[in-house]
Amino acid sequence: MQSEQIHLSHQQQKGHPYPGRFITLEGGEGSGKTSAIQYIERYYQEQGLPVMLTREPGGIEISEKIRTLILDPAHTAMDGRTEALLYAAARRQHLVEKVIPALQQGMIVICDRFIDSSLAYQGHARGLGMDEVWSINQFAIGEVMPDVTLYLDIEPEVGLARIQANAQREVNRLDLEQLSFHLKVREGYNIVAEQFPERIHKVDASLSLPEVAGQILQILAALQEDFPPTVSN
Ligand code: TMP
Repeated sequence: MQSEQIHLSHQQQKGHPYPGRFITLEGGEGSGKTSAIQYIERYYQEQGLPVMLTREPGGIEISEKIRTLILDPAHTAMDGRTEALLYAAARRQHLVEKVIPALQQGMIVICDRFIDSSLAYQGHARGLGMDEVWSINQFAIGEVMPDVTLYLDIEPEVGLARIQANAQREVNRLDLEQLSFHLKVREGYNIVAEQFPERIHKVDASLSLPEVAGQILQILAALQEDFPPTVSN
């Protein structure tokens, strides 16, 4: 049995050392992160706050190239550890080139997926062990953890049916995994959410889009009282 305990440094427990805000979205396939992110962007823009949207794996040229390599449905031979290392490499480059400079400028960075995806998908669902995947990611992220993570929780059967109904969405190598894999991803997310109850806020993503947006905006409004963004346009 792999250990699932994750230990954070003091700095990581506080998030990152920069003036901006780092918000990540997490969830299984078809959980509606893309639509949710647009609501969040509008929420901050309406307040005149500087906001930047980005995604993992990707967000910049080098990491988008790594994304293509990882997610190519033809790459069925890819070993689980290779996959985990490539996600961590894409994460590192994206952080140094895009996320950290924006946080240094005081921006609100909203990122579609971050380290919790690696813990749930590679650590738990692939069975590499969350502590092992956490440790390779330490090398990638240094002291940068999100301030807040919104986890869009949905039954994989419902999420996968949603993406099958969306003909425009790219089908990637991980979408093609069996239902049992996606059930493990959800289980993994729930383990991580239990370990970090202060950072990770769970949202019921099986509801309608306006209801999901309502839950998210409520969470963000409550957090804003805890740490109001320091910079405005
Ligand atoms: P997306 O569908 O949200 O664009 O994400 C691409 C896929 O990559 C998705 O199936 C989740 C997976 N993934 C991981 O397995 N580990 C990771 O660390 C990240 C960032 C994504």
